[in-house]
Amino acid sequence: MNSLKDNFLRVIDYLRLSITDRCNLRCIYCMPPDGIFPSSHKEILSYEEIIRIVRIAAGLGVKKVRLTGGEPLSRKNVTFLISSIKKMKGIEDLSMTTNGVLLEKYAGEIADAGLDRVNVSIDSFDPARYRDITRGGDLDIVLRGLEAAEKAGLKPIKINMVPIKGINDDEIIDFARLTLFTEYHVRFIECMPSGSVDFWNTERYITTDKIKKMIETIAPLEPVRARKNGPSKYYRLKDAKGIVGFISALTHHFCEDCNRIRITADGKIRPCLFSETEIDLKTPMRSGVDDSEIERLLKLSVELKPKGHNLNELPSEVQKITSCSSLIAQHSKKRPMSKIGG
Ligand code: 5AD
Ligand code: SF4
Repeated sequence: MNSLKDNFLRVIDYLRLSITDRCNLRCIYCMPPDGIFPSSHKEILSYEEIIRIVRIAAGLGVKKVRLTGGEPLSRKNVTFLISSIKKMKGIEDLSMTTNGVLLEKYAGEIADAGLDRVNVSIDSFDPARYRDITRGGDLDIVLRGLEAAEKAGLKPIKINMVPIKGINDDEIIDFARLTLFTEYHVRFIECMPSGSVDFWNTERYITTDKIKKMIETIAPLEPVRARKNGPSKYYRLKDAKGIVGFISALTHHFCEDCNRIRITADGKIRPCLFSETEIDLKTPMRSGVDDSEIERLLKLSVELKPKGHNLNELPSEVQKITSCSSLIAQHSKKRPMSKIGG
């Protein structure tokens, strides 16, 4: 059985595929008000090219694939891609991260095509606030999308929330409470600096430790042992149906559990979210290389995975955050999150 192992003995079996850099929202922490100039159709990988890459990656031991964006549901005929990937030998789990705007329309189709699960990004359950954060999004449509996803069996539904001081931090407890009576996994993601906007600063940023303390005022959080979660840490509020998760990109060293590589919509492999290193797959593919060369490039990208970003070497938390902000801003300068795929 093939497996991709990096230089630090991490097994890489998870591929995150950004299939478009376009998005139908403009979240304040992700995009400038006018959005980001999207790549042209020619610049992004065709479905045939994506399918070829996934097939080769599956042959190397990739078992999990996540479709991301931009907004993956905004790319035409995504069901074709889903059913093609799902049929592939070796692929055990196929999921998608979506903002949910088009879920009401597509949940049934994508579930029928073989998608296993969705993560839906929602940063507020207050319609006006949701509109402000996403610069124009309609919360009602997304809530109907959640219902449709549940009906279609795209479970467990994970909700991604990015807490931001002074903007939605007063909703942290409500989001966590949702897990008391639903099976949702509510995951709090530390706000990261994005290369495309100046939004991030230490005033806006809330650490996982603080978020956790706020949540523990309603009930104790009991750790949930899950098989392999990569960077997320999971807990359950006492007697809750659902799960609370934390993705601490900045304050906790999650790199040792990293199990993934990313491919950008325009066909570059990103061994690490926080490093500018990219390996171009599109150009060699379009110049007609055979599968063994793609295989070599995928293996090379795994070899190039850094041990981690160097935050833990910094002495105090404040320094960690400050240094980290410049570190990450510097590293993500070239690409906003919507072009990497989160
Ligand atoms: N910091 C934290 N999370 C972000 N996301 C997008 N940009 C950022 C950022 N700067 C999240 C989205 C979505 C996931 C793909 O990444 O909210 O849930
Ligand atoms: Fe779109 Fe996601 Fe960026 Fe929001 S965070 S603008 S939904 S890509």
